[in-house]
Order: sequence, then structure tokens, then C-alpha cells
Amino acid sequence: MRIKYIKYFLVALASSFCFVIFYSKLKDVARSQREMTEMSSVKTATPQQRVSTTVRKISNIMTPYKLTPFNISEGFRKDIPKNGAYWNRKLHSLLREFDNAVNQTRKDPRSRFRCRPESFELLQTNIQDLQSYPLLYMDFLNGMECRDPPILINQHSKCALKENDQIFLLFAIKSTSKHFERRQAIRETWGREGSYDNGVQVRTVFLLGRSSLDDPNLDKLVSLEAQQFQDLLVWDFQDSFYNLTLKEHVFFKWILDHCPSVSFIFKGDDDVFANTQAILNHLQSLDPAQASSLYTGQIIEKASPLRDSKIKYYVPQTFYEGPYPPYAGGGGFLFSGNLIPSLYHVSFYIPFFPIDDVYTGMCFKALGISSSIHGGFRTFDIREQDRENACVHKDLLLVHKRNPQQTMRLWRNMHSSMLTC
Ligand SMILES: *[C@@H]1O[C@H](CO)[C@@H](O)[C@H](O)[C@H]1NC(C)=O
Ligand SMILES: *[C@@H]1O[C@H](CO)[C@@H](O)[C@H](O)[C@H]1NC(C)=O
Ligand SMILES: *[C@@H]1O[C@H](CO)[C@@H](O)[C@H](O)[C@H]1NC(C)=O
Repeated sequence: MRIKYIKYFLVALASSFCFVIFYSKLKDVARSQREMTEMSSVKTATPQQRVSTTVRKISNIMTPYKLTPFNISEGFRKDIPKNGAYWNRKLHSLLREFDNAVNQTRKDPRSRFRCRPESFELLQTNIQDLQSYPLLYMDFLNGMECRDPPILINQHSKCALKENDQIFLLFAIKSTSKHFERRQAIRETWGREGSYDNGVQVRTVFLLGRSSLDDPNLDKLVSLEAQQFQDLLVWDFQDSFYNLTLKEHVFFKWILDHCPSVSFIFKGDDDVFANTQAILNHLQSLDPAQASSLYTGQIIEKASPLRDSKIKYYVPQTFYEGPYPPYAGGGGFLFSGNLIPSLYHVSFYIPFFPIDDVYTGMCFKALGISSSIHGGFRTFDIREQDRENACVHKDLLLVHKRNPQQTMRLWRNMHSSMLTC
């Protein structure tokens, strides 16, 4: 009898031993599988992706928020009609929120935006003909509330200067990973950093997102380029036309954090030619009132949404209805750095718009800043026969568009001692 019990006991012991071994093996397998997937994801992950996970954790903690006092102008409220279009409704509901909060301490407006995809059903309830929207518009609609992508490559000391010195002009150029040649042409010509006449300081940053999945992965080159030139800012969102408004928003935030005392900002594309000296002369000629509320460029007035779904600037009728406030063509425009805090903050009461320069125009209009026309900005280019003529360019501030070779040639000719105009 006892032996039988011992036998049972031994069998039980042996089987539980086997079970323990089996279980720990199972765990090992699971762990090694997990490690393998982690390793392979590390292997395929770009340096940026690896950075991004650590950065994301940090960016979730909101930095303390100090609200700049501002009002939203009557002009803007009147410009944007109240109607059934999705964006118009979204805007006026945010404006109501703004007004209701006026007498209370306003809460951090950033907390209102939650970055999660809207359900298709909910969007469809709000937009009757959603099925007829272009596919890319769906991406835009889904990302409308995503305003806080982590920064992957930063330039912390871009604006760090000796005491009492400040950056006079910052060139902020919208670019994409694959446009290295354009960036290099800008670095070698109109975007050259340093000290100009009268000792004014000029700096340059290029604003990048991540390349699309269809593009070859250039992350390695981009990080090398950033190390080499220290002028790239890269955020963790997909570089696309509809994401340019997001690019603007994160750039405002970047200035606020890293370059708050810059005097003027030039924001533009990487396929333009800018005449740095003419820009500096113009900025230095402004009186203090003009200098503190500058928004200038080629101002597009009385524009309205284009309704042809095949073009880049298409805006569906059920998305936005009404005219556009006057806005400076996004190819290149200038504005005062001291407007950045209120621009950034007012943008939390204006829903993202798929066209970035229209959106910028709205932000300025909301602050009651009127745009001023400057004839030297030619975002629709000049007469064909003048395009290689350095003399003609001497009086212009900006032309669109020029490729890197044309940019190099124009710059050389403009600065040639042989040039007689
Ligand atoms: C906003 O408007 C109110 C009333 O018109 C005015 O008292 C206040 O000073 C304005 N605030 C700013 C920051 O302009
Ligand atoms: C805010 O307070 C002022 C004066 O106390 C009052 O006239 C105004 O109607 C209030 N505004 C709102 C939106 O409650
Ligand atoms: C903008 O970027 C986000 C984040 O990468 C992406 O999910 C979204 O699809 C992009 N939107 C558009 C319209 O390309």
C-alpha cells in the first residue's frame, strides 16, 4: 500500500516536474519569439523610429502652458460664414468655446485635441457625401486632431547667441527628405547662415516630416545631413501636402520653445529663389509698428475654394463653404517673430485646413493682423524672358520657382562684380 502511494507520489512529482520544465520552455519560446520580433523590428526600424519611441514618452507630458492673451477678431468671424459645411461648423463651435471661456481661466487648449481616428460612421453622419471625397482627404480628416507629433531631429541651439544678440531673420523652409539638392543650393546661396550687413544675424532651418512608405528610406542620409549641417528639423508625421498645416503648427511651437526672440521669420518652399539682401533691406526699413505686426508676401485676396476634384487644391463643398480670408502665397512670406505666441495659441481655435497658406491667413486674420502686399514677392513667377536676368531679380524679394541649378546661376550672377544693371 505504502509503496503504491510512493509510486503515485513519484508519478505526480515527475509529471509536475515535467510540467514545470514544459512551462518554462514555453515561456522561453515565447520570450525568444518576442525578442526576435523586437530584434527584427530594431533591425528594420530606422534610427528615427528608435528615437521616436523614447521621444513620444516625453512629449506626452505637456510642458507648462502660459496663455498669451488675444482676441479673435470680428473680421474673421464675419469672413467665415456659418453654414452646414463640416469645417465651418467645427470652427464656429470652437469660437463659441473661446467666447464662453473668456471670463474664466481658460484651460490648456491642447488638452482638447485627442489624436485618434474618427469612426467612419461618425464622419459620415457629419459629411453626407463622404464617399465622394478623395482617399487622401480621409487621411486628412482622420488626422485633423493630431497636433502633437514628436520631434525626431531637433536643433536645440539654433538660436543660441551671445548675450544681447538676437536672430534677426530665420529662414524656415518646407522641404522633404529627398530634396537634398534643393537644400544644398539654398545653403550655398540665399539661405547662407551668418552675419550680414549691419551685423544682423540670419539662420536657416528646413522643416521635414517622414518620407512616405512608397519612397525609399532616406532616414540614414537625413540624420547624417542633420549632423553635418545642423539645420534640419524632422517631425514624426508623414510629409504630404495635406500635412503641411500640421508642419506649420509644429513649427510655431518650435519657435516658441527654441527661438522666442527672433525678429522676423521667412517661411517658404525649397523651390523658390529669395533675395536675402533685398529682404533684409526691406525688414530694416520698417517702422516699429509695422515691424511688430508684419505679415507680408504675395497676398491672395478674394480667393475661394476650387471645386475640381482632380486638382491639388480641391476642397469639397460639404467640407468648406465661403471665401478665403486674404492670405500670403505659401511659396514664401515674411512675418514678425513676436506674433508667434498668439499665432500658436489662436491656432487651437481654428480647425486644421487642408491648404496650409490659407490656414496661416486665417490665423493672422483671427488675430486681427492685416496682410500687407509687397510687389517683390512673385510666387507666380515673372515674365519668361526675365527669368535668367540677374538685374531684374535685384529688386525682387522672391520668385517661384527655380531649380537648384538656376538658383546657383542667378546667385552667382547677382553677386558678380561684372554685373551692371
Ligand atoms: C480683448 O477685447 C477686450 C474687449 O474688447 C479688451 O478689453 C481686451 O483688452 C482685449 N484683449 C487683448 C489681449 O487684446
Ligand atoms: C464677461 O464679463 C463681462 C464683464 O464682467 C461681461 O460684460 C461679458 O458679457 C462676459 N462675457 C461672457 C462671454 O460671459
Ligand atoms: C499625416 O501624418 C500622419 C502621421 O504620420 C499620417 O497618419 C497621416 O496619414 C498624414 N496625413 C496625410 C493627409 O497625409
